Amino acid sequence: MKKVKIALLGLGTVGSGVKSILEEKKEQLSQKLYEKTGEEKCIEISRILVRNTEKDYGADKSLLTSDYEDIINDPEIKIVVELIGGQEPATKYMKQAIDAGKHVVTANKMAIAMSGGSIEDQAKKSGAAFMYEASVAGTIPVIRVIQDSLVANDIRKISGIINGTTNYILSKMANEGQSFEDALKKAQELGFAEADPTSDVEGFDAMYKIAILSKLAFGIMPEPDQISRTGITGVSVADIEKAKANGSTVKFIAQAHREGDSVNVSVSPVEISTKHPLANVDGAMNAVYIDCDNAGEIMLQGAGAGSRPTASAVVSDIFAIAEKL
Ligand SMILES: NC(=O)c1ccc[n+]([C@@H]2O[C@H](COP(=O)([O-])OP(=O)(O)OC[C@H]3O[C@@H](n4cnc5c(N)ncnc54)[C@H](OP(=O)(O)O)[C@@H]3O)[C@@H](O)[C@H]2O)c1
Repeated sequence: MKKVKIALLGLGTVGSGVKSILEEKKEQLSQKLYEKTGEEKCIEISRILVRNTEKDYGADKSLLTSDYEDIINDPEIKIVVELIGGQEPATKYMKQAIDAGKHVVTANKMAIAMSGGSIEDQAKKSGAAFMYEASVAGTIPVIRVIQDSLVANDIRKISGIINGTTNYILSKMANEGQSFEDALKKAQELGFAEADPTSDVEGFDAMYKIAILSKLAFGIMPEPDQISRTGITGVSVADIEKAKANGSTVKFIAQAHREGDSVNVSVSPVEISTKHPLANVDGAMNAVYIDCDNAGEIMLQGAGAGSRPTASAVVSDIFAIAEKL
């Protein structure tokens, strides 16, 4: 049986989900690889980068390393799966992996958006795969849909609820009349919001994701300062009640549409009609709505975050690369 050896960078929420799924579904994945390629192959984690190899991660200690060189210099490792998050050293690590002839999978929207497409460009030049399905809307396969399923279309507009924390908060405010502060506290208690919620409630997280979708749909990766961004901290229960009286609801919408040679990209709370499909996406759910010329209107909905939903998308990328190796 041929082994497709991979390295995980980071063993946090998503990294541990990827490890669990790869272990639990090892035979199923091998079977599916066989069905697709006619070859007997299995996906094997051969190294895991962590900061502290003494910490108990529930993983075989012999797999752990805190030295990235161990991964970069191992020619047997074909796929590097970056799940440490943040801009650096994640961006540097992904670029080093591509330079070393490895394929890269990531869930890191911040690193992709802040690098302005340069990681993908480098991968294209070197012939490496660079896959990032989990970086936008977690488990929802929106990137594959745009890249593959909609190739026969011109996309007119993409809009979506692509941050679960803010959708949870706005849903609590709308359904239970809770204040922003109380809804945020509840979201933090339930693990839907970080202790420092700035990236979510001020719209940075959604901004990175819509920048990635804009590049895929329109070929233009907007710089963060080209994206109009307003968070939800200024939304009050009174605003939501006013919207209700108008037959609308307030949702935190990221949208991108073409305007001549450029794209108009924004992230902001928006009053939308309760008849719009996005209006009924409640709680921590995500949804992406795509309007295109031939296929018409499509909406994809699912979990935008969480260990296993996100890991499911990461594993699908690892599998897609393993198919070709
Ligand atoms: N969580 C989600 O639901 C979700 C959804 C979609 C996308 N994502 C993306 O997935 C990525 C990972 O998120 P996460 O929630 O899994 O984060 P996390 O729980 O904070 O895990 C990150 C892991 O990376 C390790 N790490 C950080 N810097 C490192 C370094 N320099 N060297 C080695 N290890 C390092 C951390 O180690 P320590 O144990 O030492 O802290 C931790 O184990 C991020 O890009 C995030 O945006 C997450």
